[in-house]
Amino acid sequence: MYLEFITKSTEETEAVGAKFAKSLKPSDFVAMFGDLGAGKTAFVRGASRYLAPGAAVQSPTYTVVNEYPAKVPVYHFDMYRIDDEDSLYSIGYYDYLENGGICFAEWCEKIEPYLPDHFYSVTIRKSVEDPDVRCIRIVEEYR
Ligand SMILES: Nc1ncnc2c1ncn2[C@@H]1O[C@H](COP(=O)(O)OP(=O)(O)OP(=O)(O)O)[C@@H](O)[C@H]1O
Ligand SMILES: [Mg+2]
Repeated sequence: MYLEFITKSTEETEAVGAKFAKSLKPSDFVAMFGDLGAGKTAFVRGASRYLAPGAAVQSPTYTVVNEYPAKVPVYHFDMYRIDDEDSLYSIGYYDYLENGGICFAEWCEKIEPYLPDHFYSVTIRKSVEDPDVRCIRIVEEYR
């Protein structure tokens, strides 16, 4: 899978997230890349609208992981403050990977060596010209 989208609003980024979410299966892992304010949380909010309707999706900045209950639960990580594998163990990262839910992780730049064998990378880049424009690239990756 290799997909690219240009969005011109937060709502359009949420819509791309919702559409992509329809192709996800239990145990899938979505690794999100992109700067501060790129739109990672907006994408996860859109995806969760399909996967965990009613979930109040917010950046798990202080909690590190938010859980959104659903038939297949959604786990939403923010790796911004993760600096080593010990921190991953202490948040239960490897347990989450194995319990059948769908994981979204923001700031995967921080955990590159610890990503699972199979994941979707979602990279969001801001336009330098227009503050509302984003480029979203989705790639299925194997290691
Ligand atoms: N096309 C767009 N797609 C997504 N967000 C947009 C777009 N245009 C403007 N925005 C704005 O950019 C911001 C994106 O915020 P969001 O929290 O989703 O980013 P983030 O990548 O999760 O940031 P952080 O690294 O702080 O977690 C919001 O204020 C949103 O309204
Ligand atoms: Mg965020």
